[in-house]
Amino acid sequence: MKKILVSTGGGDCPGLNAVIRGIFKAAKKSKEWEVWGCMEALNGLDADPPDIVKLTKKRVAGIHVKGGTILKTSNTANPLSYPVEQPDGTIKRVNRTPELAQKIKDLGFDALVNIGGDGSQAISQALYENGLNVIGVPKTIDNDLSATDLTFGFTTAVQIATDCFDKLVTTAESHHRVMIMEVMGRDAGWIALHTAVAGGAEICLLPEIPYDLDLIVKRIKRRFRKGRGFVNIVIAEGAKPIGGTVTGRAAASNKDEHIKLGGVCNALRYDLEQHPDMPKVQVRSTILGHIQRGGTPAAFDRILATAMGVKAFELVAENNFGKMVSFTNNEITSVPIKEAIAEYNFVSKDHYLVHVARATGVAFGDQ
Ligand code: F6P
Repeated sequence: MKKILVSTGGGDCPGLNAVIRGIFKAAKKSKEWEVWGCMEALNGLDADPPDIVKLTKKRVAGIHVKGGTILKTSNTANPLSYPVEQPDGTIKRVNRTPELAQKIKDLGFDALVNIGGDGSQAISQALYENGLNVIGVPKTIDNDLSATDLTFGFTTAVQIATDCFDKLVTTAESHHRVMIMEVMGRDAGWIALHTAVAGGAEICLLPEIPYDLDLIVKRIKRRFRKGRGFVNIVIAEGAKPIGGTVTGRAAASNKDEHIKLGGVCNALRYDLEQHPDMPKVQVRSTILGHIQRGGTPAAFDRILATAMGVKAFELVAENNFGKMVSFTNNEITSVPIKEAIAEYNFVSKDHYLVHVARATGVAFGDQ
């Protein structure tokens, strides 16, 4: 039997388990491959003995409906920039991918399927360049990978955010308030944009379109002038005012290189409350945070994730390595991982959904 190792890296995302099950089921049918999982991204390789598990029918039964990942995950200790403490206490970052590629081969694996976002796919590419047979599967609720039209988890996150938005609308209406809801997405505004259109927000603030506070206040005033109104705002965690910066803090651990975004809705609330032209109404803010990543994947994400898992196995069986599975023009296909990580998928100002949003009265704080 040939052996595939599967790992899930980066932040978790609804649909990861459906990918794992898709790979397992397709491999089992082939009768030539067995599938193993590496625990906690590739960190399981550092344990002694390595923390890897053989996947069985029993282990994967019914997992496609569950959120999270049975293999656990981690967004720390990036092997491309692994922090090693030096004798003088300083941290030196080293590239561990040559060592990891060798370790995976030494453990008898013929291929690795690495499920993860842009950071994980950069690791996939480095492992591939170090001679490992690698297939990437894109994952992120942010939908920020350019080489695929959609990533699984995104639809679920938008549904969760929309459900929450709907709840905030009824309470905003009762109190004649301005409600600000902050959603995830890092540097991309896809979750915010989709939620704003689905929920019918008055204002939507995206990282890609820095906002002008005066214009937001003007829009709020207009709503309240027409009677005892209310306003619902969706703001992406990476949004910023014109000439300003994002709201966040460096992670507490030096093993996590990402700035932890969060709190821009509170900054906006404060700025609105202080603005001299702001109507005398109450403003409240809600951060959805990791709620958007948890729970049961929506049906569409289960289907997309299962299809991506099956495709990942097929690429392995075809010896077609160095590829990332992608969903393009309604087809499950593949692209070189190198291409997939070259560009980020930002919301462009002329995207059709920005147009739809503007046409239905959503303001972006830029005009
Ligand atoms: O990339 C997915 C994501 O959920 C982002 O939307 C968010 O900024 C980040 O991960 C949060 O990371 P963490 O799980 O480290 O808090």
